[in-house]
Amino acid sequence: MYEIIEKKQLNGTIVEMEVKAARVAKSCLPGQFVIVRTDENGERIPLTICDYSRERGTVTIVFQTVGASTYRMAALKKGDSFRDFAGPLGRYCEWIKEPADELQKKRILFVAGGVGTAPVYPQMKWLHEHGIEADCIIGARNKDLIILEEEMRAVAGNLYVTTDDGSYGMKGNVNDCLKRLVSEEKKVYDFVVAIGPMIMMKYVCLLTKELGIPTIVSLNPIMVDGTGMCGACRVTVDGKVKFACVDGPEFDGHLVDFDQAMKRQQMYKTEEGRRYLKEQEGASHHGGCGHCE
Ligand code: NAD
Ligand code: FES
Repeated sequence: MYEIIEKKQLNGTIVEMEVKAARVAKSCLPGQFVIVRTDENGERIPLTICDYSRERGTVTIVFQTVGASTYRMAALKKGDSFRDFAGPLGRYCEWIKEPADELQKKRILFVAGGVGTAPVYPQMKWLHEHGIEADCIIGARNKDLIILEEEMRAVAGNLYVTTDDGSYGMKGNVNDCLKRLVSEEKKVYDFVVAIGPMIMMKYVCLLTKELGIPTIVSLNPIMVDGTGMCGACRVTVDGKVKFACVDGPEFDGHLVDFDQAMKRQQMYKTEEGRRYLKEQEGASHHGGCGHCE
């Protein structure tokens, strides 16, 4: 059992929980995810790690209440426990492997959309702890939906906040801000990491392709069971079939077929859609179950 040490309601629907999970905390790195279950009959929910403390033996998760399972999770209180807390899963960020002196020369921009701010935080924190101050744009629909602003400010070089309705920070979406930074402030970036809703990542990638800035995206939103078994997170990257939970979650955003991934994501929601996908994709429908190829 994995005890909830702290619980915070970040806004109306977004919850942060610090969970005692010493084994995960000991080895996890930014970019990786965990699968949680409230009880033995509960749905498996894959969540990108938002923070970890090796000293406290804890991992912090942030999630939005969108369905029955996340409502059940949100009902848990400080002192309650998760039945399962499996991880760390997935590949950690590629840039962690770069020699520190090379990485220190890079000008990095993070683009965090809404709840996607949570998985951006451990990446920026890791860089900050290694002497690298990356810039970050946080985009939210309105002021109430901005999360982790203070935490992000503490680890960012420059933090830019945008709201779609102009209720806080700059008015506009993350791309409006990115365009302004590049065209008006003459900012130059070696790479961008964009994490947020699929549609945001698609449009950030269209823009950064035009601007010639390599871009990494995290495809956590298309995962369902996170175990490589269900086939939900199948995505075409550079013309090749990949599975976000096994081969990712991070990919070169300029090579991802976002339109296909979003169409699949919609189809996967219905029984009929899932049957259709299975028929169309045959033996390659699943990820890493090992029985299909
Ligand atoms: P949202 O829809 O409120 O969007 C957040 C911001 O993204 C907007 O304010 C805007 O600045 C930007 N954005 C959205 N659409 C855009 C577009 N077409 N062009 C340019 N910018 C755009 O986001 P939300 O409701 O907080 O996010 C929920 C989604 O985030 C869920 O789908 C969830 O799966 C996803 N999510 C993704 C990750 C990840 O790892 N990629 C992690 C957590 C959550
Ligand atoms: Fe099920 Fe990846 S989430 S195969």
